[in-house]
Amino acid sequence: MSTSPTRPPVPAWLVEPDDVNALAAEVWPPEAARDDHGAISIGGVPVTALREQFGTPLYVLDEGEVRARAARVLTAFRSAAARHGTHARVYYASKAFLSAEVVRWVTDEGLAVDVATGGELAVALAAGTDPAFIGLHGNNKLPAELDHAVEVGVGSVIVDSRIEVERLSAIAERRGIVQNVLVRVNTGVHAETHDFLATAHEDQKFGFALTDAAEVVTRIRELPGLRFLGLHCHIGSQIFGVAGFEESAARLVDVHAQLRAGGEVPVMNLGGGFGIAYTSVDDPTPIEQLADGIVDAVARECEVRGIPIPDLAFEPGRAIVGRAGVTLYEIGTVKPVRVSDDVERLYVSVDGGMSDNARTALYGAQYSARLASRTSTAPPALARVVGRHCESGDIVVDHEYLPADVAPGDLVAVPATGAYCFSLASNYNYVPRPPVVAVRDGHARVIVRGETIDDLLARDAGLAPEGTA
Ligand code: LLP
Repeated sequence: MSTSPTRPPVPAWLVEPDDVNALAAEVWPPEAARDDHGAISIGGVPVTALREQFGTPLYVLDEGEVRARAARVLTAFRSAAARHGTHARVYYASKAFLSAEVVRWVTDEGLAVDVATGGELAVALAAGTDPAFIGLHGNNKLPAELDHAVEVGVGSVIVDSRIEVERLSAIAERRGIVQNVLVRVNTGVHAETHDFLATAHEDQKFGFALTDAAEVVTRIRELPGLRFLGLHCHIGSQIFGVAGFEESAARLVDVHAQLRAGGEVPVMNLGGGFGIAYTSVDDPTPIEQLADGIVDAVARECEVRGIPIPDLAFEPGRAIVGRAGVTLYEIGTVKPVRVSDDVERLYVSVDGGMSDNARTALYGAQYSARLASRTSTAPPALARVVGRHCESGDIVVDHEYLPADVAPGDLVAVPATGAYCFSLASNYNYVPRPPVVAVRDGHARVIVRGETIDDLLARDAGLAPEGTA
């Protein structure tokens, strides 16, 4: 395939760095730094030591950064809510990165947990989360998942269809429980990275149209197994500006106000989606400004209608874990490829790829990268970090400058991989998924063990030991 004229080989946003060894503050965990030997250290542990102890590829998660971010996001929303005399609860959207340790860190910092399947629920519970602080999502929760959620007493189920409303009420009734529910609605606001689109009609699978909300809530209020708490919306992910959230909040308050005529509406959940920087040109709004903007918008709309501000809830995922993650790879081959008369690109092949980071291939996501095991005085070379899978779209970092002398055996580190990399990982090409190591105060420990080829072979029933197939 030839390069399309609308997609230049070097994007306009990519600037050649003055210092190809420098770590851009906004994309690395705050404690990341070069040690005396030039190796990057994360949470006080040099990547060279991490390679020696755990091998590559390796997901590294900075525990201090996850905790600090959780605390900061919680404070931002709580303070914004407190200024208007209300409360905010922050649910960690566990789909971004889920393991028992991470659940413990965020609940320890005061966050509740949002889960989207029975599997995520099982991890949250096994990690010791109080079920009352769990919210269960999903457009097609399995009946067994709903039953389990009701049985263990999850704090809220976010209902997504009429069929589910009836199904959940029947389950709760059978168990003699009244289940708290929120109703997921589409506010018609679709936020994309830097902008948002507001449409009256939705063509996607989640939630109810705003215009149908009243009827659904009336039905919920009739049902003996359910208690209606409020509305929920989530307008998208990796959102930089506040305007989409404000517009969505205004539309939500409008319906929320109408619903008060039929009974209590104590809660409003405005979802997650708060963006982070993946490259140094990304410029997300700080969480404090987002929190203030969204809560102010809700307060304004409530005031106009003369109604009290409900308790608020939010569901950040990426904003909690994204920047805490760094993926380490070892370079296997380096290949210069002439892509046009004046552009040569260094293809740097690493020992992972789209199986540990699907986001580049799935969403065209942009990342940055640094030579991690040493510094270099070589000039910057236009590079593309690619994986070892059998697809040309197996790209980890599409556009980056790396030192021209990068070589086999060097370590490359890709920052801002804490969200949706581990969770979207696959075994494509029968590649085992890497371990996750938590670093903090100079110590490293495995929080999710890596897979082995034997783990993968063990699932193949055609290979079962004789007599066990
Ligand atoms: N709440 C709900 C109902 C959601 O569906 C999501 C994400 C979140 C909260 C958390 O969104 P966050 O704060 O992390 O943006 N795999 C994609 C992102 C999918 C997001 C799905 N829902 C990616 O890698 O960019």
